Amino acid sequence: EQIEKGGYEHFMLKEIYEQPSAIVDTYRGRMLVDKGMVRMAGMDDNIERFVNAKRILIVACGTSWHAGLVAEYIFEDFARVPVEVEYASEFRYRNPIIDENDVVIAISQSGETADTMAAIKLAKSKGAFVFGVCNVVGSSISRETHAGAYTHAGPEIGVASTKAFTTQITVLSLMALKLAKAKGNMSNTDFHYHLQELDLIPGKIKKALEANEHIKEVAKKYMNAANFLYLGRGFNFPVALEGALKLKEISYIHAEGYPAAEMKHGPIALIDENMPVVVIATKKGHYEKVVSNIQEIKSREARIIGIVTEGDTDVRSMSDYVIEVPDTVEAFTPLLTTIPLQLLSYHIAVMLGKNVDQPRNLAKSVTVE
Ligand code: G6P
Repeated sequence: EQIEKGGYEHFMLKEIYEQPSAIVDTYRGRMLVDKGMVRMAGMDDNIERFVNAKRILIVACGTSWHAGLVAEYIFEDFARVPVEVEYASEFRYRNPIIDENDVVIAISQSGETADTMAAIKLAKSKGAFVFGVCNVVGSSISRETHAGAYTHAGPEIGVASTKAFTTQITVLSLMALKLAKAKGNMSNTDFHYHLQELDLIPGKIKKALEANEHIKEVAKKYMNAANFLYLGRGFNFPVALEGALKLKEISYIHAEGYPAAEMKHGPIALIDENMPVVVIATKKGHYEKVVSNIQEIKSREARIIGIVTEGDTDVRSMSDYVIEVPDTVEAFTPLLTTIPLQLLSYHIAVMLGKNVDQPRNLAKSVTVE
């Protein structure tokens, strides 16, 4: 096992550090930056189904569901197609309205999750075209779907999903770009620019990982907190959910993810000087709005950990700690902002002496209902 961990203390840490190369493996051969094209057999062969889809429905569980939420923002922004994201376990039991005009994307690291499998079978029975995004080659879900694309992240052993999440977002981004181009929703210049930006992401993740020692300090400071709040907006709202999930899963600290502006409708009541609030506030999209959300929290004396773009000064001046990530186009910021949140939960769990790779009560893949 020590050999498999490749010198890292835990599989989770190894997998966090593997993300730059895993993402390259995901887009290699698919993203042809020089030619300005995205090649994906499963989509190329069925491009009409995607182009004519009245709606895209994404079904998944857990972290894969969070990747689906990120994809909702990306698909709608790039390809201008309505997207709905459903927990597979809810979808399967609610007599969903779905037909042959729908494309269903099922996301699953293991390809074995029982609820996701049941949702796929239901969607197929109603005539929808079902596309799988799985990591495990030859898995049940990859066989049950009409077509699909593997994430090629390599084996993920840690129960808390890390590289599976970022590679899922990578595949889904490529799909959204491809669909945007096929539908004529994105100019060639814009398309090309996004390919170039995606190509830079692995290098930028490496840069984000350099904050590891600083993140350890943050972890040490807040490891004894009873509750954490994670806030983000737009593309980074799902990242807030995922950050909170990571902390819950491995450190057993209660954490909630929330859209930053929605906080005033509830969670703000919980805020006091003992509550660390992790705010994703990259210099894109809703930056000004997030800054004013931070002011609201600050006035309630919360401890603020800002996830910011390199060189940021506004959020820094209001925060107890900031963790920087490199700049990129807004749609790809989740691939960077996720990294410090993974490391933060990892270090807190290690410092609390928890079993990081095999947290209590959780399974790597849930093959029963
Ligand atoms: C379990 C795992 C999670 C995972 C979820 C969905 O709960 O612990 O890490 O996100 O299942 O799994 P899947 O293999 O379908 O992505």
